[in-house]
Amino acid sequence: FMSTQIRNFCIIAHIDHGKSTLADRLLEVTGTVSTREMKSQLLDDLELERQRGITIKARSVTMRFKRNGQDYELNLIDTPGHVDFQYEVSRSLACCEGALLLVDAFQGVEAQTVANAFAAMEHDLTIIPVINKIDLTHARPDEVAEEMMNSLGTDPDECVRVSAKTGQGVDGLIDTIIEHVPDPGGDPKAKLQAMVFDSNYDDFRGAITYVRIRQGTVRKGQKIRFLRAGTEHEVVELGQFTPQRQSRDSLSAGQVGYLICNIKSLSDVHIGDTVSVPGDNPAEPLPGYDRPKRMVYCGLFPSDGQDFSELRDALERLSINDPSFEFEPETSDALGFGFRCGFLGLLHMEIIQQRLENEADIDLVQTAPNVTYEITDKRGEVHEIHKPQDVPDPGDIEEFRQPIVRCNVIVPDDFIGPVMKLCQERRGIQKSQEYLAAGRAMLTYDIPLAEVVYDLHDKIKSCTRGYGTLDYEMVGYEPADLVRMDILVNGKRVDALSIVCNRADADRRGRAVAKRLKKEIERHMFEVAVQAAIGSRVIARETVPAMRKNVTAKCYGGDITRKRKLLQKQKEGKKRMKAIGNVEISQKAFMAVLSDS
Ligand code: GTP
Repeated sequence: FMSTQIRNFCIIAHIDHGKSTLADRLLEVTGTVSTREMKSQLLDDLELERQRGITIKARSVTMRFKRNGQDYELNLIDTPGHVDFQYEVSRSLACCEGALLLVDAFQGVEAQTVANAFAAMEHDLTIIPVINKIDLTHARPDEVAEEMMNSLGTDPDECVRVSAKTGQGVDGLIDTIIEHVPDPGGDPKAKLQAMVFDSNYDDFRGAITYVRIRQGTVRKGQKIRFLRAGTEHEVVELGQFTPQRQSRDSLSAGQVGYLICNIKSLSDVHIGDTVSVPGDNPAEPLPGYDRPKRMVYCGLFPSDGQDFSELRDALERLSINDPSFEFEPETSDALGFGFRCGFLGLLHMEIIQQRLENEADIDLVQTAPNVTYEITDKRGEVHEIHKPQDVPDPGDIEEFRQPIVRCNVIVPDDFIGPVMKLCQERRGIQKSQEYLAAGRAMLTYDIPLAEVVYDLHDKIKSCTRGYGTLDYEMVGYEPADLVRMDILVNGKRVDALSIVCNRADADRRGRAVAKRLKKEIERHMFEVAVQAAIGSRVIARETVPAMRKNVTAKCYGGDITRKRKLLQKQKEGKKRMKAIGNVEISQKAFMAVLSDS
């Protein structure tokens, strides 16, 4: 009698290098899903993911089959490929013993492959280099194997060559996985210890918790304890994804699967938490628990004030499914009632916004995104700042710190010049430059996240004709010469228009916003001053002149119906006007200024 052998692995790949297609072929070759049942891209089940072509949430799938008389259980743990979800990637890697490093035989190594491959190595995973799309007529597998050696240190002779599309080489890849990836081991009789690596929300069953069992066994009906959350629950169902949910009686050491415990909100399930037995004497918590950190914030306001409660409902629904997204009510003089929202990164922000628009059909005004800042005040207290208007006055600031990220950019060498220029303009500090192969280089820069957040990725794409790829990871906070720049209208600060910028940029940006706002503000009976200021120091000023004649005087004394019509019209116009002191500014004007800043 030979017990089932287990292999837990993930696929690391740059977008479009064929991760989903390879997952499909593995399911097919192991007989987990028949060819007839095979829909393409089985693992990406969110419509939005399909649209964007990015795997947002990790999933796992279990494949059971027999080879040479031996039973195997292969667990493929799907990892998100984007930097915003780095924390989730790291939790998924912690559940694997092996990683397939999948590289497109034509495109070669890209920035995301490098970042995630190093993460896998840090987790001590067995790396299997795989070259995909060898069926392409312009495939260049030999050169790509060399690039992989230069950038990732893999042995060209060990590269498994496959076509996920035709299935060529995929059976051999399964042999390689079985041979090289170690069995997870772990004592099924020991005290239960399992890692939570993902969760999602099911409208009928509540939270579904994805776990990898390190040691011990969990059984249906048993009581469990989440060690970090400190909560206890009964397991009402457990099982594995094949790829449909298939319930089982137990999961034991080495296995990957799901638990359902009647948990009503995803915010009660923490990725990275450890599951053990209830009571005072559980197993040790597994290392590496960390809260996902929101790095990018923006305000979301319904463009029609009436939609406020609809927007709140929609945000609540979204956060049930995605606890890494947070929001709280915010009031702005300029934009009325809305919400301050925190995201893991820019892509995460775009995804949430798109979901809001698709699912809730609410017209939104979004304020310019800003990163999380740290400020030490004169009393030595440290503050985390999520919106520019919360930055204290200059006299109260001892030190102003901003997040710095390390960016890897991979480019054909014709484009090194433009990319270096761009990174320098964004206050980047070059760390290294390496050649991956003839004609392809990797540039490494430390750049303030605030400079990356706006549009660095798009700019790199456009200055490299689409060939450059960018990835980044957090380095930490560093002091910088930053200031809060305010916009004042007739002496009153307009909260939604405050920004944080480098002192050296403040004059230029202040002048630009003041000019634009001047153009958008209608004339009043009096002069309107638009100023940009740092603390009490004005750095730019524009004046909207007063109306020359009192045109409203014409309204008086006319016939009554005409007067009513005018009043009605005024009222409708009012709805869209916001008062800053005694100055009325249309919401359109604010949006015009915000959308360009
Ligand atoms: P994301 O889900 O966007 O991260 O992409 P992915 O890495 O999962 O890539 P996906 O499997 O969606 O494949 C990207 C494209 O490459 C699709 O159009 C596939 O049909 C194609 N593709 C994948 N594998 C192969 C292959 O072996 N040969 C050829 N010719 N095309 C392939």
